[in-house]
Amino acid sequence: MTTLVIASQKGGVGKTTVAINLAYSLARRGWKTLLVDTDPQGSVGLSLSEKARASRGFYDVLTSGAEVDSLILPTRLPEYRLLTAGGGDLFYKGMGQEGTVFASARGRMAELFHRIEGGGFDLTIVDTPAGVYGITGELLRFADHVLLPQQVEPLSLRSIPQMLKAVVGVDGVRGQRAGASVLLTMLQEEEPDSMELAAEIRALLPDQLMCDTRIPRAADFLKASRLGVPLGLLYKKPSATALVFDQLAAEMENELNLESEEEADEYTRLMD
Ligand SMILES: Nc1ncnc2c1ncn2[C@@H]1O[C@H](COP(=O)(O)OP(=O)(O)OP(=O)(O)O)[C@@H](O)[C@H]1O
Ligand SMILES: [Mg+2]
Repeated sequence: MTTLVIASQKGGVGKTTVAINLAYSLARRGWKTLLVDTDPQGSVGLSLSEKARASRGFYDVLTSGAEVDSLILPTRLPEYRLLTAGGGDLFYKGMGQEGTVFASARGRMAELFHRIEGGGFDLTIVDTPAGVYGITGELLRFADHVLLPQQVEPLSLRSIPQMLKAVVGVDGVRGQRAGASVLLTMLQEEEPDSMELAAEIRALLPDQLMCDTRIPRAADFLKASRLGVPLGLLYKKPSATALVFDQLAAEMENELNLESEEEADEYTRLMD
């Protein structure tokens, strides 16, 4: 099982959007995928369904040691399952000062990932609240790979180097350092300023850190989020924007070395 943590130093850059839609594309491609919401605001639940909003989840495991297996929700896609954030308020209230919050939750978090590991998933995608310290810092220790959405805007240029230092330097619980990929989001291809900024961000980073896929700014995102569906389900025939997440999924499969049990590519000829 591979764990992909989605994080960013800044809020509102598209983490949750990427998490929901990338998980959908990977599940459609056959990977048994668990999406874990660790944002105490419960943004995945808010985006997807009434039921998900009210469910117990990640923070209930941390505060009360609830059984994670019983909290994992199915979706219409058998390969796509969800662990919602659950009671984040209680976690932050009940556990007091920062230092002690995370120290006491560490054991339960390790147990949670251990349980998920035994749950038969190929991949766990973890959506995190903004910022790379605090709870996100703890989660990064369980990552095999970190995906870092960056909004194409001037502030990103300034904050990326510092953010990378915080993320890439984290020692994992299994003694490994996680891989990392930076994903540009909300790119406006028709705006020269936006394209120039994207080029500047690209120039700032080593090639192997950059995703080839870039997420465009598009009105469909608002619509999908309002209706509580992944972009791929917004129209009967998925839009070009929805297909961007298939491209990202293919890229991540390589990056994460997801291994399929099926025989390597067998080709079906279009005609015999
Ligand atoms: N590519 C995009 N084009 C247009 N709107 C987008 C795009 N990606 C996300 N949005 C919108 O921007 C807002 C913030 O996105 P999202 O919630 O995914 O960010 P986030 O990084 O998870 O935020 P937070 O740090 O608060 O958790 C949402 O309203 C979402 O619908
Ligand atoms: Mg979010």
